Amino acid sequence: MLVYEGKAKRLYETEDPDVLRVEYKDSATAFNGVKKAEIEGKGQLNNEISSLIFKRLAEKGVKSHFIRKISEREQLVRRVEIISLEVVVRNVVAGSLAKRLGLEEGTPVGQPVVEFYYKKDELGDPLITEDHVRILGIASSEDLQFLRKQALAVNESLKALFAEIGVRLVDFKLEFGRGRDGAILLADEISPDTCRLWDLATNEKLDKDVFRRDLGSLTEVYQEILNRLRGDISHV
Ligand code: C5P
Repeated sequence: MLVYEGKAKRLYETEDPDVLRVEYKDSATAFNGVKKAEIEGKGQLNNEISSLIFKRLAEKGVKSHFIRKISEREQLVRRVEIISLEVVVRNVVAGSLAKRLGLEEGTPVGQPVVEFYYKKDELGDPLITEDHVRILGIASSEDLQFLRKQALAVNESLKALFAEIGVRLVDFKLEFGRGRDGAILLADEISPDTCRLWDLATNEKLDKDVFRRDLGSLTEVYQEILNRLRGDISHV
């Protein structure tokens, strides 16, 4: 049974109440759903990339909801209650940070920046402070500290993983959820839909900005990321 349909994925129940089946769709959306397209092959690419990344993170000790990939478009994940926060980590100025602070894209930020956004489509997912999180009752300050620490640990692992394949991790968004036992797990997906990835040598964009800004073929650059993650090192 379908339990949830988002912009890029559908979630289905399985016989195991603690396990869900995720199906990655070919839909691409940007600017809170204002720009939309169906891009054949995108779902499969993100399923493969996200599965590979969750596996590599697990090897580095970062637990997530990911169990295993079961088909080209599907994976099994632990069932969690998603926390209504988007946790963004930034290593380089880009996107909304460039706009908000009037800084040039590409400026390094020194220590990584962590931001919390309230996941609420009707409000356009606003940036919120830790006190806002508290009054919304979304997470305790201990939970927030934990999310911040986890997000920074994921950043360190992902930065190294991408550097090995000639890619600069500019920024990314994470989501977390609570399992039945209350433990917080990394959830959702990690893919070029949710990260900004620039080629280390050329600064070419290898992520969803290609779609957002009409810079070329989304599937070509996502395929490039997948090839590199799989060990095709022809880019070096
Ligand atoms: O738009 P902004 O610069 O705030 O995005 C920061 C990072 O978070 C980018 O990598 C973007 O792809 C990701 N993001 C996302 N989903 C959102 C908002 C941002 O994956 N709803």
